[in-house]
Amino acid sequence: MTAGSTIRIAPSLIAADFARLGAELAACERAGADLLHVDVMDGHFVPNLTLGPPVVKALRSHTRLPMDCHLMLVEPERYIPAFAEAGADWISVHVEVCWHLHRTLTLIRSLGKRAGVVLNPTTPLTYAYEAVPYCDFIVLMSVNPGFGGQEFIPGVLRRIAELRDFLERQGMSMDIEVDGGIHAGNVGEVVRAGATIVVSGSALFHGDIVSNVRTFRHLVTESAFPGPADSWSR
Ligand code: DX5
Ligand code: ZN
Repeated sequence: MTAGSTIRIAPSLIAADFARLGAELAACERAGADLLHVDVMDGHFVPNLTLGPPVVKALRSHTRLPMDCHLMLVEPERYIPAFAEAGADWISVHVEVCWHLHRTLTLIRSLGKRAGVVLNPTTPLTYAYEAVPYCDFIVLMSVNPGFGGQEFIPGVLRRIAELRDFLERQGMSMDIEVDGGIHAGNVGEVVRAGATIVVSGSALFHGDIVSNVRTFRHLVTESAFPGPADSWSR
């Protein structure tokens, strides 16, 4: 865990009510979410289809929150300009489908967006290590990408800790985003392992999102800054 880092909570819109996305965004803001995680799926890299730049453009005018677009696409470089134009703020791509990762990350940054690298649950961390100089955040998948509502893969906790240790040895405090299967019962250990951004869909959108995000906020703060509340408020 990087001492003093803030922890961001990112509701994953895949679990939202797509018939009321504007209202769902407003609820995320009311709840105090930090980012909106937008899952983009093409039916090729992952066996599911979701949304594209037109939806991101429509959502853009309904929220001030940064939009974190997770591109689960083959050839993501073909679509990055359109997502940037539509209003994405953070754009992450999977190493598994980027033949020219350095060029793709450079493209995202050239458009003024934060560039993220995503690794599936068993993709070697060395792919992240090599990308660190060219990206702004690293996403570790804690489920197999393609669907919300899946079980968290516990082995990913070790990966989070190893990546955080690597970054600290490099003297870097880069964000580690963890995505998939995160709920009130495991978000604390995800943060303690070294995550600084927690993505959650089902656990936040099912039930009352405002109270769910507030529960997450309490849990991540307690995990990032352990000990009785008054011990670190001095
Ligand atoms: C999976 C997506 C995740 C997922 C999160 O491919 O990248 O963002 O939808 O949803 P939950 O929290 O329900 O696993
Ligand atoms: Zn995602």
